[in-house]
Amino acid sequence: MGRNKTGGLAGVIAGRTDICTVGKEGAGLTYRGYDIYDLADNACFEEVAHLLHHDHLPNAGELAAYRDKLKSLRALPSVLRQALESIPTDTHPMDVLRTGCSVLGNLEPETDFAQQRDAADRLLAAFPSMLLYWHRFHADGRRIETSTDDDSVAGHFLHLLHDAPPSELHRRTLDTSLILYAEHEFNASTFTARVIAATLSDFHSAIAGAIGALRGPLHGGANEAAMELIERFDSPEAAETGVREMLARKELIMGFGHRVYTRVDPRNSVNKRMSRRLAEEVGDERLYPVSETIERIMWEEKRLFANADFYSASVYHFMGIPTYLFTPIFVCSRITGWSAHVFEQRADNKLIRPGAEYTGPGLKAWVPLAERG
Ligand SMILES: CC(C)(COP(=O)(O)OP(=O)(O)OC[C@H]1O[C@@H](n2cnc3c(N)ncnc32)[C@H](O)[C@@H]1OP(=O)(O)O)[C@@H](O)C(=O)NCCC(=O)NCCS
Repeated sequence: MGRNKTGGLAGVIAGRTDICTVGKEGAGLTYRGYDIYDLADNACFEEVAHLLHHDHLPNAGELAAYRDKLKSLRALPSVLRQALESIPTDTHPMDVLRTGCSVLGNLEPETDFAQQRDAADRLLAAFPSMLLYWHRFHADGRRIETSTDDDSVAGHFLHLLHDAPPSELHRRTLDTSLILYAEHEFNASTFTARVIAATLSDFHSAIAGAIGALRGPLHGGANEAAMELIERFDSPEAAETGVREMLARKELIMGFGHRVYTRVDPRNSVNKRMSRRLAEEVGDERLYPVSETIERIMWEEKRLFANADFYSASVYHFMGIPTYLFTPIFVCSRITGWSAHVFEQRADNKLIRPGAEYTGPGLKAWVPLAERG
C-alpha cells in the first residue's frame, strides 16, 4: 500500500491544527504532543477529554472538578426523553444521536460562542444517557434514570446498558477504547464539523453534521460491519476461505486499510490486546481466532492492516454490547476531538470553500418548456 493515493483530497493539506498528528512516518498518533500509547496505558478518558479541550493534562484538582461537572450533566430534559421515546425502535442509534444532538440544541441553544465549552461538556456527558435511554426504552420497555454515581463516562455507559456497575476490567477496557477513538486530525467527520463551524454556525449543528459523516461504513460505521463479518464465520478455516473469496470478488473488508496510515494503525495493537484478554475471560474459541485469521489473510493478500475498527468490534461484543451500539460509542468518544476542532476553527476562522474542476458540458442554448421533447 505504499503507492500515492489520489482523489478524495488524499494528501491535501486542508488547514492547520495544534491538536493531533496522524501517521507521521506512516504509523504514529499523538494528541497535543502525547503519544497514544502513553495515553492508552496511563490516562483515563476524562484526562484525555480535558487535554483535548483545554490544551493541557489536568492536575488532580482539575480532573476531580471535570469529572464532577460531567457527572452533573447526565440528566436529560423531559422533552428530550419524550423525543427519544417517539423515535421508532428500528431506527439506527446513530440517527438517534443525531436527532438527540439537534433536540438538545433546540432546548439548550448555544447563543454565544462563549458557551461553547459548556455545550461540548453537556454533549460529552449526555450522549451515553441519550443513547441508552432510547435503547433501554425500546429494548426493555424501561424508562431508566440516566444520572449515575459512576466517576467515568465508560462506567456510566456500561452501568446504564447492563443495569449494574461494570467490573474494573470492563470499565478500564471501554475507557481505553474511548481514549483511542477520541481524536484523529482531519478525518471525514471532524472535517465536516470544521466546515460547518467555519460558516459561524452553532455548536450543535457542527456536531450533528459530524455524526452524519461518522455513520458511514467507510468511516465509523466500519466497526459494526467488521463485527457482522467476523460473526459470519464459525471457524478460522471458514474465515480463510470466505475472505479469500470476498477479495477475489473485489469486496471491501471492513476494518482494514486507512487513508493516512501506510504500515500500521497504532491503535490496533491496543485493541487486539484487549480483545485477546476479553476472549479469555468469556472463554471464546471462535471470534478471536477468526479475527486473527482475517487479519493474517488481509496482510498476505493485500498488505492491508487492521485499523481501529477491527478489533474494537470483538472488544465491545465480549462486553455484551449490541453491535448496533458500536458506532454510537465512537460518537461518545469523538465528541471530544470534534469539540476541540470546533474551538480551534473558531479561534482563527476562515470560511472553508474549496474550488472544483468543472467536467460538465459547455454553455447550452435555453429551450422553453413547451419546446422540450
Ligand atoms: C479506509 C478506506 C476508506 C481508505 O480508502 P482510500 O484511502 O481511498 O484507499 P483506496 O480505496 O484508494 O484503497 C487502495 C486499494 O486498496 C483496496 N482496499 C482498501 N481498503 C480495503 C479493504 N478494507 N478491503 C479490501 N480492499 C481494500 C482498494 O480497493 C484499492 O484497491 P485498487 O487499488 O485495486 O482499487 C479504505 O481502506 C476502506 O474502505 N476500508 C474499509 C472501511 C474501513 O475500515 N473504514 C474505517 C477506516 S478507519
